[in-house]
Amino acid sequence: MTTPFSAVREQSGGPLPTVRRRGMLLGMNPMKPMAYALGTTASAARRLEIQDCQFATVSERLLDALNVQPADHVVELGCGAGSFTRRILRRLGPNGVVVGVDYSQGLLDQASKNLAAVGPARLEFVLSDIRDVGPLAAGADVLVGRTVLHHLNVPETLLGNLRQVLKAGARLGFIEPEFRALIARLAAFEAQGRAELAPLRRWAEGISRYYQACGLAPGIGATLGRSLEAAGYRRVHSEWFECPMDASAIENILLYYDEIREKYANLGTMTLDEIDRDQLLLASLPTDDLPAVWGMYCVTCEV
Ligand SMILES: C[S@@+](CC[C@H](N)C(=O)[O-])C[C@H]1O[C@@H](n2cnc3c(N)ncnc32)[C@H](O)[C@@H]1O
Repeated sequence: MTTPFSAVREQSGGPLPTVRRRGMLLGMNPMKPMAYALGTTASAARRLEIQDCQFATVSERLLDALNVQPADHVVELGCGAGSFTRRILRRLGPNGVVVGVDYSQGLLDQASKNLAAVGPARLEFVLSDIRDVGPLAAGADVLVGRTVLHHLNVPETLLGNLRQVLKAGARLGFIEPEFRALIARLAAFEAQGRAELAPLRRWAEGISRYYQACGLAPGIGATLGRSLEAAGYRRVHSEWFECPMDASAIENILLYYDEIREKYANLGTMTLDEIDRDQLLLASLPTDDLPAVWGMYCVTCEV
């Protein structure tokens, strides 16, 4: 069942991106939709834009590795406000298609506005839980997701289901963050006297605890390659990247805290006072010599 959505293509005056609504109707997921653990407002969209700059190298690397062609039909899981979608659109010609799937109407609204004038390819948005993406994925030459799989409880199930649905030769690519490994390096630096790094370590610890409390899968990046092999995908390749630390990385963390503060306080992850204190410390941190606080896995494979 589909319901047209009257998105406004404000800047170009060109054809509207399509937004279709999809229910829980595809039979792959017996569970209720999960609530998104982070924010869906314009400020959340701004944070995703900042993250896109931080992810520039790994994002382009993923699209290169997938050898995206101008006429490809690309399905993007968890497209959010569309910053990775924009990178895909830049590689497509008039016969290309991108279908962005997300269950946040607020972020799809942002994406619809943000991408109105980008590239000649056909652009569709589908409001859906990605666990129900099966029939949409069946038509994909390329299926991608950037920082979305870890928002599922058990993303491995979706990967296994998709293996049966995707056509032979389809290429898959995922970028997934990892918040734990670099805590060890931050703690080691602190132990050597770099006390100013403590709010960075506490941020990484907090996000790890929060995702665990929400029942998400923050470790999926590290095990993704093995899971894809176990599901029968071919030519699996996994790479690790550390996120660059600069002023925009700190802004990203500050915006993240703004977005999440009530949820942290309600769950006992951090108190509002602790968040306020760490935001002040982070805002005054010199950014010329900061070690990375998080990293990401870039994983590709084929059916
Ligand atoms: C961290 S954001 C990343 C957005 C985008 N991929 C990017 O890189 O800018 C995660 C996105 O996944 C979406 N999401 C999370 N779980 C989802 C689910 N089960 N079904 C559909 N969308 C989901 C959220 O709404 C959000 O837009």
